[in-house]
Amino acid sequence: MSKKVIIVGGHGNISLRLARILGPTHAVKSIIRTRDHESDIKAASAEPVYLSLEDAPVSAFSAAFEGQDVVYFSAGAGGKGGPERTKAVDYEGAVKVFDAIEGVSGPKPRLILVSAIDVRNPERIPSYYDEKDLAVSARMRAAMDAYMHWKYEADKNLANRTAFKWTILRPSTLTDGPGTDRATIGKAHLGAPVSREDVAKTLALLADREDAAGLAIDLVGGDVPIDTGLDTFIARGETDFLV
Ligand SMILES: NC(=O)c1ccc[n+]([C@@H]2O[C@H](COP(=O)([O-])OP(=O)(O)OC[C@H]3O[C@@H](n4cnc5c(N)ncnc54)[C@H](OP(=O)(O)O)[C@@H]3O)[C@@H](O)[C@H]2O)c1
Repeated sequence: MSKKVIIVGGHGNISLRLARILGPTHAVKSIIRTRDHESDIKAASAEPVYLSLEDAPVSAFSAAFEGQDVVYFSAGAGGKGGPERTKAVDYEGAVKVFDAIEGVSGPKPRLILVSAIDVRNPERIPSYYDEKDLAVSARMRAAMDAYMHWKYEADKNLANRTAFKWTILRPSTLTDGPGTDRATIGKAHLGAPVSREDVAKTLALLADREDAAGLAIDLVGGDVPIDTGLDTFIARGETDFLV
């Protein structure tokens, strides 16, 4: 069924692909920060909305979310501006969006948030991690300490919210390669990258998966058709996020 969706981080590499997938059959709005991105958004069959996570108040985001069925959050500082900006966008920006959804006066939209694989309480190690996972995890954490920390704080904040339905998607390293419609979903070993196209396809499928509420879902490169992998993961009902 056609839904009203709005994408925070609308000009991002995943978000543009998501808008192109959803645009023909859904009413898509994309939140961007500059008029320079307007033509790309319109070419992706979406309608631009101008707001910055760093500047606009919570109330402006609540107003933008009013009447929407789904809010996607796929924004991030992308390593530009140092740890302070990672905190401002990936954590404070995300919390602003959570607060804004709570501030919607009508029915609250669902939130589908893009986080990252291995975001977790650093004291808790997934039971299925092997030696290679531990080595990859240690390397990622050493290289992206602030990123992993603020993504964790954002996801932890979201995991405590009950006023609206939410789902977290946790992709591995992203590539710009073609989509395969296949992946490994849930309790994933680290290392296999996944294309932004397959992440966007998974996000699009999640628009119709209200039954994924409260779940955080690992997504890495693999061989299982994405829709089948989602069915299996959701039926099992075990989140991948270790708070
Ligand atoms: N790179 C990886 O390997 C990897 C792996 C796992 C997860 N992720 C996560 O995946 C998500 C999306 O990836 P991507 O490749 O699509 O990233 P991207 O292309 O860098 O997109 C991020 C978007 O966030 C927007 N943004 C930044 N600051 C903002 C602000 N103050 N207000 C509103 N929007 C703002 C950017 O807008 P502008 O275009 O205006 O700067 C950009 O469009 C990110 O959250 C990232 O952390 C990445």
